[in-house]
Amino acid sequence: MTDAPSDLTKATVDPNPLRQFEKWYQDLSTNGMSEQDATSMTLATAAKDGSPCARIVLMKGFDDRGFVFYTNYNSRKGIELAENARACLLFYWSPVWRQVRIEGSVEKVSDEESAQYFHSRPLGSKIGAWASKQSAVFESRAELEKRFEEFSWKFGDNVPRPPHWGGYRLKPATIEFWQGRENRLHDRTACTIVCDIDCVKMEPG
Ligand SMILES: Cc1cc2nc3c(=O)[nH]c(=O)nc-3n(C[C@H](O)[C@H](O)[C@H](O)COP(=O)(O)O)c2cc1C
Repeated sequence: MTDAPSDLTKATVDPNPLRQFEKWYQDLSTNGMSEQDATSMTLATAAKDGSPCARIVLMKGFDDRGFVFYTNYNSRKGIELAENARACLLFYWSPVWRQVRIEGSVEKVSDEESAQYFHSRPLGSKIGAWASKQSAVFESRAELEKRFEEFSWKFGDNVPRPPHWGGYRLKPATIEFWQGRENRLHDRTACTIVCDIDCVKMEPG
């Protein structure tokens, strides 16, 4: 941890949790954190029968509507989100000893938004989105590379967005900010986003 952490109290936390998130997110570049580390978040989903699953995805944007990530809609996470739209995101930013937990429900972003992001990606990533059968049992590297070659030939430089690839936006219902402090006297503030934003100071934990 680089600087002494500031208190997380009702007086210091921004009354709008999305602004508070923005403040903490902006602190990361001044603490020398790479974009990949800053945007890596654990996405937890649960299948219809309640079995949980988690994996890392990259946050590709956030605003008042929520937090956006991109993936293969046919992946395990895609299937679970189709069955149960409730999900949880967790950021852990080790250099500043901070954690943010965001709970809410997920919906697909618009086709236009997915297409816009897809076309901003490097050519290899665009072809990879066609070639990779995310979460499927891996056949062989050679098989995957063969599919990559085939799609490269098929599309050249004009790779369309695969219909099974796109974004999700998690609309937060609750955001909990956790600031590590010495002697395990950690600060925890949960902000519930209902009509009015209500921040509750929690016991250390
Ligand atoms: C640093 C990092 C970033 C990742 N970013 C993404 C991402 O943005 N989207 C994605 O679909 N998978 C991403 N992955 C791969 C996922 O963690 C996961 O293995 C993959 O999406 C399949 O997940 P699923 O089978 O649970 O659906 C990333 C993995 C790592 C380690």
